[in-house]
Amino acid sequence: MNTLLLSDNEKDIKTAGEILSRGGLVAIPTETVYGLAANALDGNAVKNIFKAKGRPMDNPLIVHIADFDDIKRFSLVSEIPEKAYKLSERFWSGPLTMIMPKGSAIPDEVSAGLDTVAIRFPSHKTAQAVIKAAGCPLAAPSANLSGSPSPTTAAHVMSDLNGRIDAVLDGGECSVGLESTVITLAAEKPRLLRPGGITVEQLESVIGEIEVDDAVLNRLRDDEKAASPGMKYKHYAPKAKVTLVFSSDKAYIDFVNEKNEKDTAALCYNGDAEFIKLRTYTLGDKDDYKSQAHRLFKMLRKIDGNPEIKKVYARCPKPDGVGMAVYNRLIRAAGFEVITLEEL
Ligand code: TXA
Ligand code: MG
Repeated sequence: MNTLLLSDNEKDIKTAGEILSRGGLVAIPTETVYGLAANALDGNAVKNIFKAKGRPMDNPLIVHIADFDDIKRFSLVSEIPEKAYKLSERFWSGPLTMIMPKGSAIPDEVSAGLDTVAIRFPSHKTAQAVIKAAGCPLAAPSANLSGSPSPTTAAHVMSDLNGRIDAVLDGGECSVGLESTVITLAAEKPRLLRPGGITVEQLESVIGEIEVDDAVLNRLRDDEKAASPGMKYKHYAPKAKVTLVFSSDKAYIDFVNEKNEKDTAALCYNGDAEFIKLRTYTLGDKDDYKSQAHRLFKMLRKIDGNPEIKKVYARCPKPDGVGMAVYNRLIRAAGFEVITLEEL
């Protein structure tokens, strides 16, 4: 299959809409990461997303809308919980996904057989325009091969999916850089399933206390069932082996400077780089969690671009605020391998 490269002008957005409305796959920009979109109401189109990504069929997809009223108009959920109205007023459109009881229009391929569905209203204007042009809600996971870092540019998408999908629409670099915050409102108590750009503190300021699922910060035991199926898979990992180093600045610098310079890299903060002998890839300033979120996947992909690098020692922020999202992605990229020189 020849993958079309589209721009974010009116004509190409219309073309993307046409491809989607006849059951094709188009990768589209959002404010978080690029998504691989298909008509969410067409089970066969959605099946092709799983094939193109190599994604396990038991991992459900997020349904993207371009207007709050799309939820009712397309019968996406059976009930809109009171807290969903409150959160939508404050955080939609934006990087927040809410899980609700699923409606009659949702094919099993989207919900992976669960009785719930994840809904997101992205703030990216091009994403909204493509949804409107397609005339239907769009199911879209991140537009990477399953397991690899999520794509934050059209070039990342092409490097994973060229020849496997109908088109990529280039809308520039994603501003947040990590996937949306996922909260379920289908359980008795609201529960955070995946941290993102909207923080626990922000959510609690609108709906009161929320639970944080165990799988957000910890490895699930083999016999534990994931509330969010995506959490059980190794994720976001570059080809090199990543190990997190919980440490003070000085101890980290001393630690990495003892490593072999040829095949090892440091994924570190801006302030560390000048003291390190190895190749460095910087996430941003130590306290700038937004920059770390924005740069993390880009740096993991950059590391992948250098086949000499076999090992990466990464710094990792405290799991507070947006730091929780960076921690959650990094610890999965590392397959939970951590060296603790000093507690975070
Ligand atoms: O920012 C984002 O959310 C991006 C952009 C493209 O919108 N999308 C994205 O999709 O990250 P994906 O498929 O890579 O991640 C969706 C996560 C997975 O961990 C999945 O298991 C979980 O949401 N999920 C989806 N539907 C669910 C449901 N009904 N119940 C529990 N978890 C669900
Ligand atoms: Mg993903």
